[in-house]
Amino acid sequence: MNFELSEEHKLIRQAARDFAQTELKPGVIERDEHQKFPAEQVKKLAELGFLGMMVSPDYNGAGLDTVSYVLAMEELSKVDASASVVVSVNNSLVCYGLEAFGSDYQKEKYLKPLASGEMLGAFCLSEPEAGSDATSQKTTAIDMGDHYLLNGTKNWITNGSTSSVCLVIAQTHPEKGHKGINVFIVEKGWEGFTVGPKENKLGIRGSDTHSLMFTDVKVPKENRIGEDGFGFTFAMKTLEGGRIGIAAQALGIASGAYELAVQYSKERTTFGKPISNHQSIQFKLADMATEIEAARMLCLKAAWLKDQGLPYSQASSMAKLFASEVAMKTTIEAVQIHGGYGFVKEFHVERLMRDAKITQIYEGTSEIQKIVISRELLS
Ligand code: CAA
Ligand code: FAD
Repeated sequence: MNFELSEEHKLIRQAARDFAQTELKPGVIERDEHQKFPAEQVKKLAELGFLGMMVSPDYNGAGLDTVSYVLAMEELSKVDASASVVVSVNNSLVCYGLEAFGSDYQKEKYLKPLASGEMLGAFCLSEPEAGSDATSQKTTAIDMGDHYLLNGTKNWITNGSTSSVCLVIAQTHPEKGHKGINVFIVEKGWEGFTVGPKENKLGIRGSDTHSLMFTDVKVPKENRIGEDGFGFTFAMKTLEGGRIGIAAQALGIASGAYELAVQYSKERTTFGKPISNHQSIQFKLADMATEIEAARMLCLKAAWLKDQGLPYSQASSMAKLFASEVAMKTTIEAVQIHGGYGFVKEFHVERLMRDAKITQIYEGTSEIQKIVISRELLS
């Protein structure tokens, strides 16, 4: 067993760390306050290859492994989780799904511009009445011979307005239940495709979250991914990897808040000494550091299993479950360590605390991760 990162991994981590400090940190408070999508920053992330990190160079990707992805996601999320969720969705939900299961035509036409970041992608599974209960899809895609006719509404879609390409999961044969679900590549601008207003959110306020509405949208047959009825398996398989990305995002939010708390505790003096000299602050920091390290190990283990071609569904759910709980706990404690200063925007930790919450909800709530983990351990 070897816990040492390779030189390449260290370089990637450093590149992401530098990017976060120089490009994401300036303006992050304003973007959060005004719900401004980090458009320029995402463009630069694309130029550096972060939007198609794990995609083969044959399709314009950087050809890196999942461990590299976790390292990059942690660093970016320490500073700006609204930007890192764009990296996560584009890499692990959209590009991965297309590379693993798409046809040559789909890879050529869609994966290439998505991996280079020329286009952004969105993953559209959730609906007003189908979130955790993902098999109860109400969106329908009726087979019309040479095309499908898509109708329905998708909720809470990340990159909702900024994406050019959406992977839309829809019910094609309702009588077959989850075996009648398919997934389609749908382009923005097709007739009948409308984007709802931006959601006004508690956290990741720079990320653009929208409902998407489809009214008689014609989807060419060649835009269905995989065999007829493959859509639910596609969603589950893709989410296995997506959850590693969100686990790493949660890890980054936690470690970003922890680093700020350590620094502040050395600077702030009460009762004639830095607060880091009070044992109760030291113990908080010790708990934070221990839990963050445990979360990091779970993230890297899940990534390593994926890179080895071994099963990683349970490991990715464990990493997401644990890291997201650690993100919530750590950010609350980081605000506490900052006292009143923690409650105002300039010190960053209140934003990290608000951003942490979403990691317990999206890509499967903590309760859903427990379902996945327990089903596997009892099977
Ligand atoms: N791989 C392959 N197949 C899988 C699978 C996996 N990981 N997990 C389940 N399946 C298959 C099952 O084997 C089953 O098929 P068979 O009947 O042929 O055996 C089928 O899928 C249905 O599975 P279940 O009976 O387990 O289905 P369920 O209704 O009990 O639900 C669930 C399972 C795990 C709760 C699932 O619905 C789920 O993951 N829900 C959460 C949805 C979610 O994570 N949404 C995230 C949206 S994307 C997002 O949020 C992005 C973002 O924010 C940035
Ligand atoms: P519900 O499923 O209604 O759950 C409500 C509560 O009940 C939760 O606490 C849940 O854990 C609990 N619960 C439900 N079922 C069970 C059960 N069987 N046992 C125990 N507890 C249960 N979706 C996408 O498809 N694409 C995206 O890009 C995307 N981005 C998102 C971005 C944001 C900011 C948000 C808020 C959501 C996003 N989502 C996206 C949707 C997200 O995945 C869902 O919100 C999530 O899966 C939960 O679904 P729900 O909101 O319908 O909650």
